[in-house]
Amino acid sequence: MSQPSELALVPFVSVANMMRLVMSLGPEQVLADLARYIEDDFRRWPEFDKTPRVASHSRDGVIELMPTADAENYGFKYVNGHPKNTHSGYQTVTAFGVLSSVATGYPILLTEMTILTALRTAATSGLVGRYLAPEGAEVMAMIGNGAQCEFQALAFRVLCGINRLRLHDIDPAATAKAARNLRAQGFEVVECASAQTAVEGAQIITTCTADKQNATVLSDNMVGAGVHINAIGGDCPGKTELQCDILSRASVFVEYPPQTRIEGEIQQMPEDFPVTELWQVMLGAVPGRTDPRQITLFDSVGFAIEDFSALRYVHDAIKDGDCYELLDILADPDDPRDLFGMLTRSA
Ligand SMILES: NC(=O)c1ccc[n+]([C@@H]2O[C@H](COP(=O)([O-])OP(=O)(O)OC[C@H]3O[C@@H](n4cnc5c(N)ncnc54)[C@H](O)[C@@H]3O)[C@@H](O)[C@H]2O)c1
Repeated sequence: MSQPSELALVPFVSVANMMRLVMSLGPEQVLADLARYIEDDFRRWPEFDKTPRVASHSRDGVIELMPTADAENYGFKYVNGHPKNTHSGYQTVTAFGVLSSVATGYPILLTEMTILTALRTAATSGLVGRYLAPEGAEVMAMIGNGAQCEFQALAFRVLCGINRLRLHDIDPAATAKAARNLRAQGFEVVECASAQTAVEGAQIITTCTADKQNATVLSDNMVGAGVHINAIGGDCPGKTELQCDILSRASVFVEYPPQTRIEGEIQQMPEDFPVTELWQVMLGAVPGRTDPRQITLFDSVGFAIEDFSALRYVHDAIKDGDCYELLDILADPDDPRDLFGMLTRSA
């Protein structure tokens, strides 16, 4: 049987190769680089095809496709969210994605995106924190100490200079795991028995819990003036973390309003609830934080352009190394119109 031609071969980044890539560059370097790619893409927001992600909901979770394209590339991510999974040894979130050439429609990258999603979510949060966190912020409370937690902490250190953390999770084993990992990375960590204790003295509050319901991870009385809230875990219809009174007091910043109104914390608010789009803040068209006493809220749901930036980053990052293999995933006949002949000749 003949060998696949060069056109048939697509670079593939496995989990093992993603780990090699990230650890060879250093996770903080990767987070800083990803933040730059994301910021560059947010600043050219109007150039992208945009749509809320396509979600398939079930009793236990959701499976989503997240597509977007500019003039040169098309990208999509497959991602799930199953909050009960960790009880049976599965992860809450897993993902993989594809980047393609718009000119030919051929894929130019297939990659694992479970690790990459944690990195891109954290890089986006840290980047947004640079625009919205109060000046001189030193302490971050982190409520929800699962898979995303350490990535978020590293991003806030490299992008916002945060080195002091106050951790809380309803499962003390999760807090112990995160505390161990984060102390090993040089963070000053306090383990807290309640969310109320965790937010004491924190200028930034990250909520990163997983629960398939409208939970109250943060109630109004826990949020003081001047705080920046980085709300990650409310990202599906019927899955929120904040008491709605907080939203009324905060300036709310979002990725893509048509998606966030369905999935974010603001699903609790009327359709015309005012929000600011982050791409406009990054472009300098509208201000971010304007007052030290203002409560800012990043109502994060995760948007396709962040994954596109991450795919673009990986595509560039693997060019000069060996952190990929070539996969024969496109049938490529010698005569492009003789697909059948290629099949019958293979016997
Ligand atoms: N916004 C985004 O771009 C984005 C990206 C990835 C994941 N997420 C979301 O972030 C959340 C966390 O993801 P993960 O992969 O870390 O999940 P995970 O299941 O690994 O961790 C979630 C943790 O939250 C804890 N928890 C649940 N309810 C809590 C509560 N009321 N108070 C304190 N802790 C609580 C759990 O015990 C668990 O340790 C998920 O909801 C996921 O859907 C959002």
